[in-house]
Amino acid sequence: MKIIIVNGPNLNLLGNRENNIYGDQSFTEFFKRLEMKFSDHEIFYFQSNIEGEIIDKIQEVGFSYNGIILNAAAYTHTSVGIADAVRAITTPVVEVHISNTFSREDFRHKSYISPHAKGIIVGFGLQSYELAIQSFLEEKL
Ligand code: DQA
Repeated sequence: MKIIIVNGPNLNLLGNRENNIYGDQSFTEFFKRLEMKFSDHEIFYFQSNIEGEIIDKIQEVGFSYNGIILNAAAYTHTSVGIADAVRAITTPVVEVHISNTFSREDFRHKSYISPHAKGIIVGFGLQSYELAIQSFLEEKL
C-alpha cells in the first residue's frame, strides 16, 4: 500500500503550537514511529503552508497512490481549490483533524473537503492519523 499524509498550514509547528489543543509531540517525531509501525507499507509525508502546493501534491499522487490522509488545517474551512482537487482525483481521501473541530469555534464546523472524502476522523489527537492508515489497510482484509 502506498499512502501519503498531507498536512496543511501551521502543522509544521506541532509540538510548539497551542500544546493544550494539539499536544506536545512534533509531527516528524510521530511520523518516524508511524513509519516503523507500518513498515510493511510505503507511508509518505508532505506538509505545506501554501494552498497551491497542497493542490499540486494532491494532483501528483491522486491517480496512483492507494490513499491520501489529508489534514488541510485552516484551509479545510476556506479552500474550494483543495476541495476541487479532492473531487478531481481517483485516490480516496480520508480527512483527519487532531482536535475535535466540532467542539471548537463555529467556523471550524464547516469543511469544504468532507463531502468529497471517503471518511472523516476527528478529535483523536495524533492517533487520528493512525486510525486513518488502519482504515485503508483494513479494507484489504
Ligand atoms: C486542525 C483543525 C483546524 O481547525 C485548524 O485550523 C488546524 C488544525 C486539526 O487538526 O485539529 O490548523 O485541522
